[in-house]
Amino acid sequence: MARGHILALLVLCLLCTMHSPKIEGSIDIGVNYGMQGDNLPPPREVIEMFQRYNIGKIRLFEPVHEVLDALRGKQIDVLLGTRNEDIPVLASSPENAQAWFDTNVQPYIMDMNIPLITVGNEVIPWRFSEFILPAIQNIQNILKARGLGGMRASTVVYPIVLGASHPPSAGVFSKESIGYMTDICKYLESQSAPLVVNVYPYLAYAEDPRHVRLDYAQFTATEPIVRDGDLSYTNLFDASLDAFFWAMEKVGVTNVALVVGESGWPSAGMGNFTTKHLAATYNKNFMNHVLSNRGTPKRPGDYIEGFIFAMFNENLKPAGKERNFGLFYPDKTPVYNVF
Ligand SMILES: *[C@@H]1O[C@H](CO)[C@@H](O)[C@H](O)[C@H]1NC(C)=O
Repeated sequence: MARGHILALLVLCLLCTMHSPKIEGSIDIGVNYGMQGDNLPPPREVIEMFQRYNIGKIRLFEPVHEVLDALRGKQIDVLLGTRNEDIPVLASSPENAQAWFDTNVQPYIMDMNIPLITVGNEVIPWRFSEFILPAIQNIQNILKARGLGGMRASTVVYPIVLGASHPPSAGVFSKESIGYMTDICKYLESQSAPLVVNVYPYLAYAEDPRHVRLDYAQFTATEPIVRDGDLSYTNLFDASLDAFFWAMEKVGVTNVALVVGESGWPSAGMGNFTTKHLAATYNKNFMNHVLSNRGTPKRPGDYIEGFIFAMFNENLKPAGKERNFGLFYPDKTPVYNVF
């Protein structure tokens, strides 16, 4: 074989390794890497844990360079957030968005898959809501200009953007959010980008345990609990997602996928609602539901990505259940076994 050919092959092989699919056997589930703790392991060790437990995806709330450096070549897909404080700057001009991108994303894209950049977390309907769409557009335009066709820009919302969600077909954006959400969802649809939603059946159950059944919140019910027209629901998770699908449909958006950016169940902090057993049950069932690719009753067979909240118990969060969402203690031992 001629030398040129060998060289070409070598280069090809290199390219293959960089863009090859995730490690054989890795689980198509994500975990949120929250960092609000003063006793967490260094990022390099955290990423080793993701590898050891075959966790295929990670969500970062902001582009911490030490974490991104640790992720180089590790074949873990990254859902990369921006800090909420950076949203006005990202929205202010294409040049400012480029400067952010060149510092926080461009140096890493050859060494990892970053399928989605999310502008802010749970911002709508609060401060900076009006900057979300222009910031998404500025980032999406950079991705297009640089030929990064496998990447998209989006944002992360939570059920507060809905004015109603029960039954799912009543799902509608709230009057504070509908203006922002309509424009954002239409834009996402035009770009084939998903919307990221944080969904916690635990919260609905903990707020109203007399009306929300535990088995409905935990994916353990074996019969339909809620009937809604022709559709029936055995779990609150599906019902929550379908409320979002209905709300989008009502503003004329029928083709935006949902990614679940956060879901989880605390293992302590609020009496018998928060035990290791309940947390393990929820997170295992959540994972199996995501991996089943069953979609929801309204969107059967849709691929819905999911990220568990969170990797660690975080001791700088408000006291109580907020500190106990972790799959692992800061000393890297499991709180309970999910993987
Ligand atoms: C928690 O304890 C109360 C009072 O004993 C009981 O009624 C309830 O069913 C328990 N909840 C769970 C989830 O175990």
